[in-house]
Amino acid sequence: MTSKLNGFGTTIFAEMSALAAETGAINLGQGFPDTDGPRAVLDAAIDAINSGGNQYPPLPGLPDLREAIAEHQQRFYGIELDPASEIVVTAGASEAIASALLGMLDAGDEVVVFEPMYDSYRANIAMAGAIAVPVLLAPDADGKYVFDPDELRHAIGAKTKLIMLNTPHNPSGKVFTRAELQLIAGLAIEHDLVVVTDEVYEHLAFDGREHIAMCTLPDMFERTLTISSGGKTFHTTGWKIGWMTGPANLVTAARTAKQFLTFVSGGPFQPAMAVGLRLADSYFEGLRAGLQATRDRLCDVLTDVGFTVFKPEASYFATVDIRSIDPSGDGYEFCRQLPAKAGVVAIPNEVFYARPDNGRHMVRFAYCKQMHIINAAADALAKGFAS
Ligand SMILES: Cc1ncc(COP(=O)(O)O)c(C=O)c1O
Repeated sequence: MTSKLNGFGTTIFAEMSALAAETGAINLGQGFPDTDGPRAVLDAAIDAINSGGNQYPPLPGLPDLREAIAEHQQRFYGIELDPASEIVVTAGASEAIASALLGMLDAGDEVVVFEPMYDSYRANIAMAGAIAVPVLLAPDADGKYVFDPDELRHAIGAKTKLIMLNTPHNPSGKVFTRAELQLIAGLAIEHDLVVVTDEVYEHLAFDGREHIAMCTLPDMFERTLTISSGGKTFHTTGWKIGWMTGPANLVTAARTAKQFLTFVSGGPFQPAMAVGLRLADSYFEGLRAGLQATRDRLCDVLTDVGFTVFKPEASYFATVDIRSIDPSGDGYEFCRQLPAKAGVVAIPNEVFYARPDNGRHMVRFAYCKQMHIINAAADALAKGFAS
């Protein structure tokens, strides 16, 4: 194996999902919904398969899906995009992230990342021969995840080419505020950096919070590559239809790498995703309301059990500090024991950190599940921790 991948091993999701299967525990580890998405979207994929849409789509994606992505960006963010040069469809957000990093980075370049972070960022930066420079996101006294602007300023060195952003953020559930985005944007402009922004949870900001797309800030469109996917929004995580949008030069750089990764993927799922992106606003509102309810239920239970809960502002996940229950603060060991103790699988947050000690005492639970599953998990947790 290449030395670039030293230390990456098997992802924690494989290990913990296997543990769930072995023990029959409720899997609140990996972030996948346990219900199908909208019928119209599923039917559109079936129709596409039945009507010959089974061969290679065009490299940048089916024209109608690119149109639908442009309409979506216009409807939700007021952005005008040219579907021919400013939009490319990818194999999930994952391939868009890999393409952006492989297509823009040279060996030795530095990338500022916020930790904790989605695990593919560091692996893809390493594959590009570049270096991840972490800036810590940590809960403040009110349990709200924040970063220290000075740490961010210091992280930007002469070799920094890019800032990797994720809002709404996994695993913390943080929605970056306008002031925070303005600070990041100001530094990106001052140091002439590109911002790659992963917005796969764009429709899952709760309690009336607004998700702000980085590319809508003044002077940011030309230096921002925006990534999203339909997996989280339409309960189709297995379809792996994602997209990247932005100025033609950044899209071209990422597309150049993308063509040698999968080239293209998901032929019959592409027209179906176009149907999803054109659904009425009420669909997106209903999705959010449903998840907000399971978030509330799970967070209440975790609080009752005795964890310190950092209530997520968005996304599929809630993080807790286990030290009030388990003074060892060893989240990894805690997660290994949790199925036997309480019949539930969770993920140790240390895997999301470049400096694992920063997240050693944190554990993440997914609530993108049906309410009866969250209720069953609630009962199991309450019983497991009753003593
Ligand atoms: C922050 C973040 N980015 C990207 C992805 C991957 O998205 P996709 O399944 O579309 O590749 C995930 C999936 O969990 C995620 O949480």
